[in-house]
Amino acid sequence: MNAIVTGYGGIAYEVALSLAGRGYDVIIAGRDSAKGEAAAAKLRSAVAAAPYRKPPLSGSLSRCGSPSARPSTNIAFEHLDLFEPESIRAFAERAADKHGHIDIVMCIAGVMMPDELSLSSQGAERQFAVNYLGHFDLVGRLMPLLRNSKDPRVVTVSSVANRPFRFDLRDAGAGRGYRASISYALSKLCCLMYAAELSRREHWLKSCCVHPGFAGTQLFSRSGHFTMRLLRAIFFVLPFVRQTARAAAAPAVFAATSENAKSGAYYGPMFTVMGPPRRALMPLRAKNAKLREALWELSEKTTGIRH
Ligand SMILES: NC(=O)c1ccc[n+]([C@@H]2O[C@H](COP(=O)([O-])OP(=O)(O)OC[C@H]3O[C@@H](n4cnc5c(N)ncnc54)[C@H](OP(=O)(O)O)[C@@H]3O)[C@@H](O)[C@H]2O)c1
Repeated sequence: MNAIVTGYGGIAYEVALSLAGRGYDVIIAGRDSAKGEAAAAKLRSAVAAAPYRKPPLSGSLSRCGSPSARPSTNIAFEHLDLFEPESIRAFAERAADKHGHIDIVMCIAGVMMPDELSLSSQGAERQFAVNYLGHFDLVGRLMPLLRNSKDPRVVTVSSVANRPFRFDLRDAGAGRGYRASISYALSKLCCLMYAAELSRREHWLKSCCVHPGFAGTQLFSRSGHFTMRLLRAIFFVLPFVRQTARAAAAPAVFAATSENAKSGAYYGPMFTVMGPPRRALMPLRAKNAKLREALWELSEKTTGIRH
């Protein structure tokens, strides 16, 4: 059994640790080789030191996959920059060369409200490109390897902030001017729409979406945007409104490993920002077939990738 996890910090690190503890060989993928190699080494030591980690939180849905297999220290880093289509292509080619199959793809890496607008070579705004479109491209390219798995799963990470006040795909390329918060919410809504649409189109795999609630990770300290400064102030004054990265990883681990995880479903913490995993409420726009179709078309056209 093996898994690809995009990202190596915060929630991605905890998900990788949990999967390795359950016996999966894990490939962590990210853009900074020094950070990635260091994270892989840390993960290997952590698994060796404490081989089995219990599911992060208990609750009705948190019966994650059992640790039937021996924990795996086969944890490797591979370079992947989701903002660079060429890097995604190269990553997928290396994966195909090295692996006959892939069991799980965890689409976790993300950015939130960067201070400045930057557009990818395909004209996508950074948050749309990294959080959503890069993962669409990646999963599309990994489809042949997923098809070779006995229990293929794709888990996509959304956010409680997945309700942009307008749904306009021109915002995917900042075509109406750059509003960091709108672009973030749009990217996270698109992650959810993608997971649901992938489940509808591909019955042979499980595609779930999750959100982590609020977690104490680096995500909020990377930007000077007003909303991010406000959130940092709230977390400082009220530290209990966010959970640890390990607890925030629980919905993703559940979706990746539990027999009870349902394809097309959306999972998040019981009390919205924290708590054990349970089914979460999908915004209406994520269920809208026309909007999902429009997003899928745009994604295929922009990336040139068909699933
Ligand atoms: N923390 C929360 O409360 C929260 C709430 C809702 C949703 N989320 C979502 O949860 C996911 C994980 O967030 P986190 O809290 O763990 O944040 P984090 O600690 O900032 O981790 C983000 C990860 O994404 C990677 N990344 C950024 N740009 C990338 C790129 N171009 N290519 C490849 N990797 C890239 C980062 O690598 P570098 O270090 O090299 O930049 C890092 O490993 C994100 O999708 C986020 O939107 C988090």
